[in-house]
Amino acid sequence: MYLQRRNRILRQTPAIRAMVAENSLTPNDFIAPLFIEDGTNLKTEISSMKGYYRYSLDNTIKEVKSLWALGIKSVLIFIKSPEALKDNTGKEAWNPDGIMQRSIKAIKDAVPEMIVMTDVALDPYSSYGHDGIVKDGEIINDETVEALVKMSLSHAAAGADFMAPSDMMDGRVGEIRKVLEQNNYTRVGIMSYSAKFASCFYGPFRNALDSAPGFGDKKTYQMNYANRIEAIKETLMDIEEGADIVMVKPAMAYLDIIREIKNAVTVPVSAYHVSGEYAMIKAAAEKGWIDEEKAIIESLTSIKRAGADLIATYFAKDAAKLING
Ligand code: PBG
Repeated sequence: MYLQRRNRILRQTPAIRAMVAENSLTPNDFIAPLFIEDGTNLKTEISSMKGYYRYSLDNTIKEVKSLWALGIKSVLIFIKSPEALKDNTGKEAWNPDGIMQRSIKAIKDAVPEMIVMTDVALDPYSSYGHDGIVKDGEIINDETVEALVKMSLSHAAAGADFMAPSDMMDGRVGEIRKVLEQNNYTRVGIMSYSAKFASCFYGPFRNALDSAPGFGDKKTYQMNYANRIEAIKETLMDIEEGADIVMVKPAMAYLDIIREIKNAVTVPVSAYHVSGEYAMIKAAAEKGWIDEEKAIIESLTSIKRAGADLIATYFAKDAAKLING
């Protein structure tokens, strides 16, 4: 048969395939989420996230050193706060001696070059398990933003490099930027969860932090997953308000959104490969139904191909090891 073009020429050998690969993963792409709680020498496996742990600060430092050694440049910190410190104001969130603030300092002291990003939302500190302050059964916007501003300021004071507001309140990025400017934190960045959908895939995470909403759901602040144009609106507004990096969350069920946003903006785009996405791969692999290592690399590559410059993933360490060989 005479063929003018044979596409399989470019797929013949591993070397040719590597030469023409359009995308590849590096450890620079990954943001490693860390779950931290107060205490010493704690390493607790999260029941819904097999192989992922919540650490006390001492063990967190060891983990951060090993992440850095693997080439991972950034961590994203989440705190599990004891029930006794939770209330409706979430005020533990800006306690200068809180476990979040101590963790930021300790990580920056131990590995100064590691980029420390912090989750900014009230849910781990809220007695209602909501990302904001509750009044008459509603999550109220403006007072919540005031709380998030105090929280961000305390993270900046502790030495955080990037604030990552994950709450989806209106106007919070602008207010956080303003308070950072007013206090001369001119080197602190904002990675905004700009298109965060109300998703069932956060279930295992809420189990890790004991932060599931006590009533209702998060649909009055997180986005409806039926929507696409709204994701662009949210993201463009966050950029206008001062976001340095924007984010789409979750990742794998939202690859179309990642691509739309990548095409619409000129700031780096991150994607959060969330707890439920991690748990599904783990569970299927445990049953022997999929090859875990291949599923990790294929999933993360597809997120990158969709347009993510950065990927927050619980597989950061595993993937870095696989990439580094
Ligand atoms: C808190 C927050 C959540 C996640 C990140 N920050 C949970 C939520 O919004 O309910 C989810 C992360 C994951 O599932 O991996 N605002």
